[in-house]
Amino acid sequence: MLVHAITADLQYEFAADVRAGLTKPSQKELLSKYLYDDVGSALFEVICHLPEYGLTRADERLLRRHAGDIVERLATPIAVAELGSGSGKKTRQILEALCRRQRTRYYPIEISPTALAMCERELSDIDCISILGFEREYLDGLLEVAAERRPGQHLLVLFLGSTIGNFDRMAGLKFLNQVRRILQPGDSLLLGTDLEKPSSQLLAAYDDELGVTAAFNLNLLARINRELGADFDLAYSEHVAKINHHNRSVEMHLRSTRRQTVNIPAAELCVEFFEGETIWTESSHKYSADEIFRMASTAGFRCEVQWIDDQWPFAENLLVAE
Ligand SMILES: C[S@@+](CC[C@H](N)C(=O)[O-])C[C@H]1O[C@@H](n2cnc3c(N)ncnc32)[C@H](O)[C@@H]1O
Repeated sequence: MLVHAITADLQYEFAADVRAGLTKPSQKELLSKYLYDDVGSALFEVICHLPEYGLTRADERLLRRHAGDIVERLATPIAVAELGSGSGKKTRQILEALCRRQRTRYYPIEISPTALAMCERELSDIDCISILGFEREYLDGLLEVAAERRPGQHLLVLFLGSTIGNFDRMAGLKFLNQVRRILQPGDSLLLGTDLEKPSSQLLAAYDDELGVTAAFNLNLLARINRELGADFDLAYSEHVAKINHHNRSVEMHLRSTRRQTVNIPAAELCVEFFEGETIWTESSHKYSADEIFRMASTAGFRCEVQWIDDQWPFAENLLVAE
Protein backbone atom coordinates (compact mmCIF):
# COMPACT_ATOMS: atom_id res chain seq x y z
CA MET A 1 0.00 0.00 0.00
CA LEU A 2 1.21 3.47 -0.82
CA VAL A 3 0.71 5.93 2.04
CA HIS A 4 0.67 9.71 2.01
CA ALA A 5 2.01 10.49 5.49
CA ILE A 6 1.48 13.63 7.55
CA THR A 7 4.34 16.09 7.47
CA ALA A 8 3.15 18.72 9.99
CA ASP A 9 4.58 18.87 13.50
CA LEU A 10 2.16 16.48 15.17
CA GLN A 11 3.74 16.57 18.60
CA TYR A 12 3.44 20.36 18.72
CA GLU A 13 -0.24 20.13 17.78
CA PHE A 14 -0.85 17.38 20.35
CA ALA A 15 0.79 19.50 23.08
CA ALA A 16 -1.27 22.56 22.10
CA ASP A 17 -4.54 20.57 22.15
CA VAL A 18 -3.69 18.99 25.52
CA ARG A 19 -2.92 22.42 26.93
CA ALA A 20 -6.17 23.90 25.58
CA GLY A 21 -8.26 20.97 26.84
CA LEU A 22 -6.80 20.76 30.33
CA THR A 23 -7.01 24.51 30.97
CA LYS A 24 -10.73 24.75 30.15
CA PRO A 25 -12.36 26.61 33.04
CA SER A 26 -15.23 24.17 33.61
CA GLN A 27 -15.01 20.62 32.25
CA LYS A 28 -11.46 19.50 31.40
CA GLU A 29 -11.33 17.74 28.06
CA LEU A 30 -9.03 15.76 25.74
CA LEU A 31 -9.92 15.26 22.08
CA SER A 32 -11.02 11.70 21.31
CA LYS A 33 -8.87 11.50 18.19
CA TYR A 34 -5.84 11.23 20.49
CA LEU A 35 -7.11 7.91 21.87
CA TYR A 36 -5.74 6.27 18.71
CA ASP A 37 -1.98 5.94 18.98
CA ASP A 38 -0.33 2.51 18.42
CA VAL A 39 -1.58 1.12 21.71
CA GLY A 40 -5.02 2.74 21.42
CA SER A 41 -5.61 1.45 17.89
CA ALA A 42 -4.64 -2.08 18.99
CA LEU A 43 -6.92 -1.86 22.04
CA PHE A 44 -9.80 -0.61 19.91
CA GLU A 45 -9.48 -3.77 17.79
CA VAL A 46 -9.89 -5.83 20.98
CA ILE A 47 -12.94 -3.77 22.01
CA CYS A 48 -14.56 -4.73 18.70
CA HIS A 49 -14.39 -8.41 19.79
CA LEU A 50 -15.87 -7.89 23.27
CA PRO A 51 -19.25 -9.52 23.92
CA GLU A 52 -20.56 -6.26 25.43
CA TYR A 53 -19.66 -4.19 22.32
CA GLY A 54 -22.30 -5.51 19.93
CA LEU A 55 -21.97 -2.46 17.67
CA THR A 56 -19.17 -3.86 15.49
CA ARG A 57 -20.88 -7.21 14.96
CA ALA A 58 -24.14 -5.46 14.02
CA ASP A 59 -22.27 -3.31 11.48
CA GLU A 60 -20.53 -6.44 10.14
CA ARG A 61 -23.77 -8.44 9.84
CA LEU A 62 -25.46 -5.65 7.90
CA LEU A 63 -22.53 -5.25 5.54
CA ARG A 64 -22.28 -9.01 4.97
CA ARG A 65 -26.01 -9.31 4.26
CA HIS A 66 -26.38 -6.25 2.07
CA ALA A 67 -23.02 -5.66 0.37
CA GLY A 68 -24.34 -7.06 -2.93
CA ASP A 69 -27.41 -4.83 -2.81
CA ILE A 70 -25.36 -1.77 -1.82
CA VAL A 71 -22.98 -2.27 -4.73
CA GLU A 72 -25.81 -2.80 -7.23
CA ARG A 73 -27.27 0.56 -6.28
CA LEU A 74 -24.02 2.42 -7.02
CA ALA A 75 -23.21 4.15 -10.29
CA THR A 76 -19.90 2.91 -11.71
CA PRO A 77 -17.01 3.37 -12.33
CA ILE A 78 -16.42 4.11 -8.69
CA ALA A 79 -13.59 4.60 -6.20
CA VAL A 80 -14.00 3.98 -2.46
CA ALA A 81 -12.78 6.28 0.32
CA GLU A 82 -13.13 5.36 3.98
CA LEU A 83 -13.08 7.91 6.81
CA GLY A 84 -11.33 6.47 9.90
CA SER A 85 -10.99 3.00 8.37
CA GLY A 86 -9.46 1.41 11.47
CA SER A 87 -8.36 -2.11 10.53
CA GLY A 88 -10.74 -2.13 7.54
CA LYS A 89 -12.01 -5.63 8.40
CA LYS A 90 -15.67 -4.86 7.71
CA THR A 91 -14.80 -3.10 4.47
CA ARG A 92 -13.80 -6.40 2.88
CA GLN A 93 -17.52 -7.15 2.27
CA ILE A 94 -17.99 -4.02 0.16
CA LEU A 95 -14.68 -4.30 -1.70
CA GLU A 96 -15.21 -7.96 -2.61
CA ALA A 97 -18.73 -7.23 -3.83
CA LEU A 98 -17.41 -4.33 -5.93
CA CYS A 99 -14.67 -6.49 -7.38
CA ARG A 100 -17.30 -8.60 -9.09
CA ARG A 101 -18.01 -5.49 -11.20
CA GLN A 102 -14.73 -3.62 -11.59
CA ARG A 103 -11.17 -3.08 -10.42
CA THR A 104 -11.33 -0.66 -7.49
CA ARG A 105 -9.10 1.99 -5.96
CA TYR A 106 -9.58 2.09 -2.16
CA TYR A 107 -8.45 5.10 -0.10
CA PRO A 108 -8.44 4.57 3.70
CA ILE A 109 -8.13 7.95 5.49
CA GLU A 110 -6.73 7.66 9.01
CA ILE A 111 -4.86 9.67 11.60
CA SER A 112 -3.46 6.47 13.05
CA PRO A 113 -0.53 5.00 11.07
CA THR A 114 -1.00 1.77 13.04
CA ALA A 115 -4.60 1.50 11.86
CA LEU A 116 -3.50 2.20 8.28
CA ALA A 117 -0.91 -0.58 8.50
CA MET A 118 -3.53 -3.00 9.91
CA CYS A 119 -5.84 -2.03 7.08
CA GLU A 120 -3.24 -2.89 4.48
CA ARG A 121 -2.52 -6.28 6.07
CA GLU A 122 -6.24 -7.00 6.27
CA LEU A 123 -7.21 -6.14 2.70
CA SER A 124 -4.15 -6.51 0.51
CA ASP A 125 -5.07 -10.08 -0.49
CA ILE A 126 -8.09 -8.85 -2.47
CA ASP A 127 -6.76 -9.10 -6.02
CA CYS A 128 -8.69 -6.44 -7.83
CA ILE A 129 -8.21 -3.52 -5.45
CA SER A 130 -5.34 -1.11 -5.13
CA ILE A 131 -4.95 0.66 -1.80
CA LEU A 132 -3.72 4.21 -1.38
CA GLY A 133 -3.77 5.24 2.27
CA PHE A 134 -3.90 8.83 3.50
CA GLU A 135 -2.54 9.56 6.97
CA ARG A 136 -4.78 12.59 7.35
CA GLU A 137 -7.71 14.09 9.21
CA TYR A 138 -11.02 13.04 7.65
CA LEU A 139 -11.80 16.09 5.51
CA ASP A 140 -8.22 16.85 4.50
CA GLY A 141 -7.91 13.27 3.27
CA LEU A 142 -11.26 13.34 1.47
CA LEU A 143 -10.32 16.55 -0.34
CA GLU A 144 -7.15 14.89 -1.61
CA VAL A 145 -9.04 11.78 -2.67
CA ALA A 146 -11.61 13.91 -4.52
CA ALA A 147 -8.76 15.66 -6.33
CA GLU A 148 -7.53 12.26 -7.60
CA ARG A 149 -10.82 11.24 -9.20
CA ARG A 150 -10.88 10.67 -12.93
CA PRO A 151 -13.54 12.24 -15.18
CA GLY A 152 -16.82 10.31 -14.88
CA GLN A 153 -15.67 8.41 -11.80
CA HIS A 154 -18.02 8.32 -8.80
CA LEU A 155 -17.04 8.15 -5.15
CA LEU A 156 -18.40 5.91 -2.43
CA VAL A 157 -17.44 7.25 1.01
CA LEU A 158 -17.64 4.84 3.94
CA PHE A 159 -18.09 6.15 7.47
CA LEU A 160 -18.72 3.00 9.47
CA GLY A 161 -18.81 1.95 13.11
CA SER A 162 -20.96 4.94 14.12
CA THR A 163 -17.82 7.08 14.33
CA ILE A 164 -20.09 10.01 13.43
CA GLY A 165 -21.45 9.63 16.98
CA ASN A 166 -18.17 11.04 18.32
CA PHE A 167 -19.37 14.44 17.07
CA ASP A 168 -22.16 16.17 18.95
CA ARG A 169 -25.37 16.46 16.91
CA MET A 170 -24.68 19.95 15.53
CA ALA A 171 -21.07 19.09 14.69
CA GLY A 172 -22.20 15.80 13.12
CA LEU A 173 -24.59 17.65 10.84
CA LYS A 174 -21.92 20.20 9.97
CA PHE A 175 -19.54 17.35 9.18
CA LEU A 176 -22.07 15.68 6.86
CA ASN A 177 -22.51 19.04 5.13
CA GLN A 178 -18.76 19.37 4.67
CA VAL A 179 -18.53 15.85 3.25
CA ARG A 180 -21.43 16.64 0.90
CA ARG A 181 -19.65 19.77 -0.37
CA ILE A 182 -16.62 17.69 -1.35
CA LEU A 183 -18.79 15.16 -3.20
CA GLN A 184 -20.58 15.47 -6.54
CA PRO A 185 -24.25 14.69 -7.22
CA GLY A 186 -24.68 10.93 -7.54
CA ASP A 187 -21.76 10.10 -5.20
CA SER A 188 -22.67 8.02 -2.15
CA LEU A 189 -22.01 7.90 1.57
CA LEU A 190 -22.50 4.66 3.49
CA LEU A 191 -23.06 5.79 7.05
CA GLY A 192 -23.14 3.41 10.04
CA THR A 193 -25.11 4.75 13.02
CA ASP A 194 -25.67 3.18 16.42
CA LEU A 195 -29.28 3.55 17.57
CA GLU A 196 -30.71 4.35 20.99
CA LYS A 197 -30.90 1.41 23.38
CA PRO A 198 -31.32 0.77 27.12
CA SER A 199 -28.82 2.52 29.41
CA SER A 200 -27.64 -0.76 30.95
CA GLN A 201 -26.67 -2.13 27.53
CA LEU A 202 -24.86 1.10 26.64
CA LEU A 203 -22.97 1.30 29.92
CA ALA A 204 -21.77 -2.29 29.56
CA ALA A 205 -20.62 -1.57 25.98
CA TYR A 206 -18.45 1.34 27.16
CA ASP A 207 -17.29 -0.18 30.46
CA ASP A 208 -16.67 -3.86 29.82
CA GLU A 209 -16.06 -6.41 32.53
CA LEU A 210 -12.54 -7.21 31.35
CA GLY A 211 -11.42 -3.58 31.52
CA VAL A 212 -10.31 -3.24 27.90
CA THR A 213 -12.27 0.00 27.37
CA ALA A 214 -10.81 1.29 30.64
CA ALA A 215 -7.31 0.53 29.33
CA PHE A 216 -8.16 2.20 26.00
CA ASN A 217 -9.23 5.35 27.84
CA LEU A 218 -6.37 5.37 30.38
CA ASN A 219 -3.87 4.91 27.55
CA LEU A 220 -4.54 8.53 26.64
CA LEU A 221 -2.84 9.62 29.88
CA ALA A 222 -0.07 7.08 29.28
CA ARG A 223 0.34 8.58 25.79
CA ILE A 224 0.69 12.07 27.27
CA ASN A 225 3.35 10.66 29.61
CA ARG A 226 5.20 8.96 26.73
CA GLU A 227 4.99 11.74 24.15
CA LEU A 228 4.85 14.93 26.20
CA GLY A 229 6.97 13.85 29.18
CA ALA A 230 4.08 14.15 31.68
CA ASP A 231 3.91 12.47 35.08
CA PHE A 232 0.30 11.25 35.31
CA ASP A 233 0.20 8.43 37.89
CA LEU A 234 -2.26 6.01 36.32
CA ALA A 235 -2.92 4.42 39.70
CA TYR A 236 -4.88 7.56 40.64
CA SER A 237 -7.06 7.82 37.54
CA GLU A 238 -10.03 5.64 36.70
CA HIS A 239 -12.22 5.08 33.67
CA VAL A 240 -15.84 6.17 33.95
CA ALA A 241 -18.66 5.66 31.45
CA LYS A 242 -21.85 7.63 31.98
CA ILE A 243 -25.07 8.30 30.14
CA ASN A 244 -25.88 11.86 29.16
CA HIS A 245 -29.67 11.62 28.78
CA HIS A 246 -30.01 15.18 27.55
CA ASN A 247 -27.56 14.64 24.68
CA ARG A 248 -28.56 11.00 24.12
CA SER A 249 -24.94 9.93 24.37
CA VAL A 250 -22.54 7.80 26.39
CA GLU A 251 -19.58 9.75 27.70
CA MET A 252 -16.17 8.41 28.67
CA HIS A 253 -14.25 10.28 31.34
CA LEU A 254 -11.05 9.81 33.33
CA ARG A 255 -11.64 10.52 37.02
CA SER A 256 -8.91 11.58 39.40
CA THR A 257 -9.27 9.47 42.56
CA ARG A 258 -7.30 11.95 44.68
CA ARG A 259 -6.16 15.53 44.63
CA GLN A 260 -3.09 15.72 42.41
CA THR A 261 -0.81 17.99 40.40
CA VAL A 262 0.48 16.83 37.03
CA ASN A 263 3.37 18.30 35.05
CA ILE A 264 3.27 18.18 31.27
CA PRO A 265 6.59 19.72 30.18
CA ALA A 266 6.06 19.64 26.40
CA ALA A 267 2.76 21.49 26.87
CA GLU A 268 4.40 23.92 29.34
CA LEU A 269 1.65 23.06 31.77
CA CYS A 270 1.23 22.19 35.42
CA VAL A 271 -2.34 21.17 36.06
CA GLU A 272 -4.26 20.60 39.31
CA PHE A 273 -7.00 18.01 39.73
CA PHE A 274 -9.34 17.85 42.71
CA GLU A 275 -10.51 14.47 44.01
CA GLY A 276 -13.33 13.22 41.78
CA GLU A 277 -12.62 15.70 38.98
CA THR A 278 -12.93 14.23 35.49
CA ILE A 279 -11.44 14.74 32.05
CA TRP A 280 -14.02 14.16 29.32
CA THR A 281 -12.39 12.05 26.59
CA GLU A 282 -15.14 10.84 24.26
CA SER A 283 -18.86 10.96 23.57
CA SER A 284 -20.80 8.45 21.50
CA HIS A 285 -24.12 9.87 20.41
CA LYS A 286 -27.00 7.51 19.70
CA TYR A 287 -29.67 8.10 17.08
CA SER A 288 -33.26 7.30 16.23
CA ALA A 289 -33.73 5.72 12.83
CA ASP A 290 -35.88 8.65 11.59
CA GLU A 291 -33.42 11.25 12.74
CA ILE A 292 -30.86 9.95 10.25
CA PHE A 293 -33.20 10.63 7.31
CA ARG A 294 -33.63 14.21 8.54
CA MET A 295 -29.90 14.75 9.09
CA ALA A 296 -29.11 13.34 5.66
CA SER A 297 -31.66 15.51 3.93
CA THR A 298 -30.53 18.68 5.75
CA ALA A 299 -26.96 17.95 4.65
CA GLY A 300 -27.92 17.51 0.99
CA PHE A 301 -28.22 13.72 0.78
CA ARG A 302 -31.16 11.46 -0.09
CA CYS A 303 -31.43 8.35 2.06
CA GLU A 304 -31.61 5.67 -0.62
CA VAL A 305 -32.04 2.81 1.84
CA GLN A 306 -31.64 2.08 5.53
CA TRP A 307 -31.08 -1.38 7.01
CA ILE A 308 -31.48 -2.06 10.74
CA ASP A 309 -29.87 -5.00 12.49
CA ASP A 310 -32.26 -7.41 14.18
CA GLN A 311 -29.98 -8.21 17.15
CA TRP A 312 -28.37 -4.88 18.13
CA PRO A 313 -30.12 -1.61 17.24
CA PHE A 314 -27.79 -0.25 14.57
CA ALA A 315 -28.59 1.27 11.17
CA GLU A 316 -26.58 1.16 7.94
CA ASN A 317 -27.65 4.06 5.73
CA LEU A 318 -26.89 4.43 2.05
CA LEU A 319 -27.03 8.17 1.32
CA VAL A 320 -26.80 9.63 -2.17
CA ALA A 321 -25.54 13.19 -2.79
CA GLU A 322 -28.25 15.27 -4.49
C1 LIG B 1 -14.27 4.35 16.38
S1 LIG B 1 -12.89 3.93 15.38
C2 LIG B 1 -13.74 3.12 14.04
C3 LIG B 1 -12.87 2.28 13.17
C4 LIG B 1 -13.61 1.56 12.05
N1 LIG B 1 -14.17 2.50 11.08
C5 LIG B 1 -14.71 0.69 12.61
O1 LIG B 1 -15.86 0.92 12.23
O2 LIG B 1 -14.42 -0.23 13.38
C6 LIG B 1 -12.46 5.51 14.69
C7 LIG B 1 -11.26 5.47 13.74
O3 LIG B 1 -11.13 6.78 13.19
C8 LIG B 1 -9.79 7.25 13.31
N2 LIG B 1 -9.90 8.71 13.55
C9 LIG B 1 -10.32 9.33 14.68
N3 LIG B 1 -10.35 10.66 14.49
C10 LIG B 1 -9.92 10.89 13.23
C11 LIG B 1 -9.74 12.06 12.44
N4 LIG B 1 -10.01 13.28 12.94
N5 LIG B 1 -9.30 11.93 11.17
C12 LIG B 1 -9.02 10.70 10.65
N6 LIG B 1 -9.16 9.54 11.35
C13 LIG B 1 -9.63 9.63 12.62
C14 LIG B 1 -9.20 6.50 14.49
O4 LIG B 1 -7.79 6.38 14.37
C15 LIG B 1 -9.94 5.16 14.44
O5 LIG B 1 -9.23 4.19 13.71
